[in-house]
Amino acid sequence: MPTIQACLFDLDGVIVDTAKYHYQAWRKLANDLGFDLSLEQNELLKGISRMESLDIILSIGKVSLTEEQKISYATEKNTLYLELCQQMTPDDTLPGVRPFLEELKASSIRIGLGSASKNARVILERIDMLSYFETIVDGNRITKGKPDPEVFLIGANDLNADHAQCVVFEDAVAGIQAAKAAGMFAVGIGEASVLTEADIVVEGFKNFSLQNLLNAEM
Ligand code: BG6
Ligand code: MG
Repeated sequence: MPTIQACLFDLDGVIVDTAKYHYQAWRKLANDLGFDLSLEQNELLKGISRMESLDIILSIGKVSLTEEQKISYATEKNTLYLELCQQMTPDDTLPGVRPFLEELKASSIRIGLGSASKNARVILERIDMLSYFETIVDGNRITKGKPDPEVFLIGANDLNADHAQCVVFEDAVAGIQAAKAAGMFAVGIGEASVLTEADIVVEGFKNFSLQNLLNAEM
């Protein structure tokens, strides 16, 4: 990859740590249905859409619901999730994210969001990060969730960038698979033992610069 035209960022777990609020809200739903949800089980839900997450949770609890009940439980979960998210402030942006995005901007690298979340704009507004993103591809715009590449392909198209010159930042296995299926360079945020299909894996943006990224690609 000679130059980087665009960077596409996942939201939850990459820009901001919302996983704890998703967990609290899903756990309440599970408890209401008579079972518990462990932190380990919550890992299975990363990068997965709301309704797919609900199906996984229901299969964990061996509970079956009608479509109507599922929609009602998912809506209730989302209301609680958004209530919990109200306590977030710009300080909740993960360490190093803001300076890294500033560096990209200064180097004229285009910036997009590629998230399964239907709440992406609300969350970005809460942490005062909305203005960094030239395009937002969220759960309202996609028909196929990660690991399908759709979310990142739309992002690259919006930014007029070649797929081979896009870099994706992702904390979920499904997200890394989506990036690779889109023909993009995938930076895993988290643990190398989990994100085995990523091109490189870093702990976070705290000690990561554009130069680190350029070096890693060569
Ligand atoms: C992803 C999260 O970013 O968004 C998942 O990793 C979540 O855990 C999904 O289920 C959908 O989010 P929302 O906000 O539309 O319920
Ligand atoms: Mg994520």
